[in-house]
Amino acid sequence: MRRVITYGTFDVLHYGHINLLKRAKSLGDYLIVACSTDEFNKIKGKKALYPFEERKKMLESLRFVDLVIPEENWEQKASDIRNFFVDIFVMGDDWSGKFDELKRLCEVVYLPRTPDVCSTNTKSKLTFL
Ligand code: CTP
Repeated sequence: MRRVITYGTFDVLHYGHINLLKRAKSLGDYLIVACSTDEFNKIKGKKALYPFEERKKMLESLRFVDLVIPEENWEQKASDIRNFFVDIFVMGDDWSGKFDELKRLCEVVYLPRTPDVCSTNTKSKLTFL
């Protein structure tokens, strides 16, 4: 069983997220998504429209997501990889190179981002409707 993990806020779930999660799952058999908590988003200077529990439930309802855990700080990645026996760490390529130190623990893959869509743009478009 190959286990894959990825991290993100996943606010106002969109096509770019789906595309990322589907490709992440296809790299292995079991996909874990670490979803940023509202408290961690504050630290990152981000504010999600949907609260953590709702973002978590939406991610859990996707057929290619097997487990959703909270992302509470920058440092937890190494311990998550160990605790969940992760084989592949996946991020969108906006993070390219940023997590290369995890290569000592597992495979690290940066997938190309889907162009022209992100939560921030979607939220600002909605305010114009
Ligand atoms: N992602 C992607 N393609 C997009 C948008 C996001 O592949 N068009 C990926 C990111 O690279 C990340 C994951 O989806 O690995 C979660 O993204 P998130 O943190 O929710 O980012 P955005 O949708 O870009 O949100 P924001 O506008 O708040 O930064």
